[in-house]
Amino acid sequence: MSNILEFEDINAGYGRIRILNDLSFTVEEGQVYGVIGPNGSGKTTMFNALIGLIKPTSGRIIFDGVDITRMSANVRCKMGLGRTFQVPRPFENMSLYENVLVAAVHGGSNSERFARDLALSSLKMTGLYDKREIRAGELTLLDRKRLEIARALGTSPKLLLLDEVAAGLTDAEVKDIMRLVADLKAAGYSIVWIEHIIETMVGSTDRLMCMAEGRCVADGAPREVIESEEVQRLYLGVDENE
Ligand SMILES: Nc1ncnc2c1ncn2[C@@H]1O[C@H](COP(=O)(O)OP(=O)(O)OP(=O)(O)O)[C@@H](O)[C@H]1O
Ligand SMILES: [Mg+2]
Repeated sequence: MSNILEFEDINAGYGRIRILNDLSFTVEEGQVYGVIGPNGSGKTTMFNALIGLIKPTSGRIIFDGVDITRMSANVRCKMGLGRTFQVPRPFENMSLYENVLVAAVHGGSNSERFARDLALSSLKMTGLYDKREIRAGELTLLDRKRLEIARALGTSPKLLLLDEVAAGLTDAEVKDIMRLVADLKAAGYSIVWIEHIIETMVGSTDRLMCMAEGRCVADGAPREVIESEEVQRLYLGVDENE
């Protein structure tokens, strides 16, 4: 399998505040790659660096074999990077269909017909097709999360970036999201999934990485990462002296 994404020693932050410290990791094509880590460890910032909202001060990001480190966010989106936002922010007064259509047009669809077809297939994939005429402002949290995913799919990504799409949901709803992610993987998407819910990550990912203070502190088979000393200490709050 070839790599869809490589972070090589990325240093990045906001203004002078450095958040990502020599962050390196690799995602294989077709994988669901999970990312965990304490609040403020830089997970969302990693997505910001990846899609081009912030520019690294050093290091390289290779996406689908191309060095994208200096490319604009717009070009990266058109190359196939699609993200969800940790806090869903749809256009509340627009229908679900219109919300996804905007993403499809913005994401570089070359014809209106193609954008329309893509919007409808994204709504089908996420189970929102029957609700496509409803206003986004009327949705439950689960459907808002689904809509975030549909909007990301609307940009026809090769690599889908999910930022806490299961946060705040009930156990049954989390299972719905897990099934959706499995469907997306089966449909051929490569996925990077940030989430705090450990059992969800172990059950849904092919490989897991744990971040702390902007660094990768563990990376490998999900169960092994969760059980590693670094993660037990850094993420689960187990005191060394206990
Ligand atoms: N726009 C910003 N300007 C300055 N600092 C920021 C900005 N966004 C985030 N930070 C800081 O960067 C650090 C990492 O934040 P980030 O949102 O990447 O963490 P996270 O791992 O996604 O956390 P969470 O699990 O709470 O979502 C935090 O200290 C945060 O306060
Ligand atoms: Mg975050």
